[in-house]
Amino acid sequence: MYVIAHLSDPHLDGSEEARSRLRRITSYVAGFKRPVDVVLVTGDLADHGAPDEYAEVASELSLEVPVLVLPGNHDVSSPLRTGLASFVSSPGEGHPVHQVRDVGEARFVLVDSTVPGADHGLISADSLAWLDGVLPSSFDGPLFVAMHHPPLDLHHPVMDQWKLEQQAPLAEVLTGKPITAILTGHVHTPITTTFAGHPVLGAPGIRSTVPFDFEPTPTDSFVDPTAYPGLAIHVHTPGEPLQTAFRFPH
Ligand SMILES: [Fe+2]
Ligand SMILES: [Fe+2]
Repeated sequence: MYVIAHLSDPHLDGSEEARSRLRRITSYVAGFKRPVDVVLVTGDLADHGAPDEYAEVASELSLEVPVLVLPGNHDVSSPLRTGLASFVSSPGEGHPVHQVRDVGEARFVLVDSTVPGADHGLISADSLAWLDGVLPSSFDGPLFVAMHHPPLDLHHPVMDQWKLEQQAPLAEVLTGKPITAILTGHVHTPITTTFAGHPVLGAPGIRSTVPFDFEPTPTDSFVDPTAYPGLAIHVHTPGEPLQTAFRFPH
């Protein structure tokens, strides 16, 4: 059994509010009766991409288990690379921060779906070529593609301004590949759907939750800052379909 604790969108900014929400999740995971095999955090690690925010991210994610991170639209490549050097292994400098990481029997292809200075997502032609080159045609073990922006339209008037653009070329690259699941963040809500024939599993937002446009929210904002932070727990057992549970510890 291989267990992934999938966290997303802590948006650390030096505030007690953000820090305590992340700690609620990391302390919950630390209390598991077996250690998770890996913690994956799918972006918006820092709220403004500032160096002192990455120092806080590094401190809060210094856990007893391997931790993988990737950038979201609130992150900034260069300070992320510098501040999280012990968490990131990506050739080159600045943007994009792509990674291929093996943790135990699992491989994680961590795609930088961000556009510097913008909130929408886009995987450029160069990045698609990189992705096509690193995805194997067969793989003996679970293979995950992770990125901040999920490849879907939410039909949400605010969030869809910041969606992943140009999804069709990505689908071409991913179709037929031996991908166990696509793991995402950004939309601050637990989601399950499919893309290019693969499961898409989005982790809840730690900092806040974004309900559908037709759901009630506590204020006029499209964001619910009072909803409990949560995480996705992905459990892979050889020969069986992936199982995912969502938890909102409190
Ligand atoms: Fe976010
Ligand atoms: Fe985001």
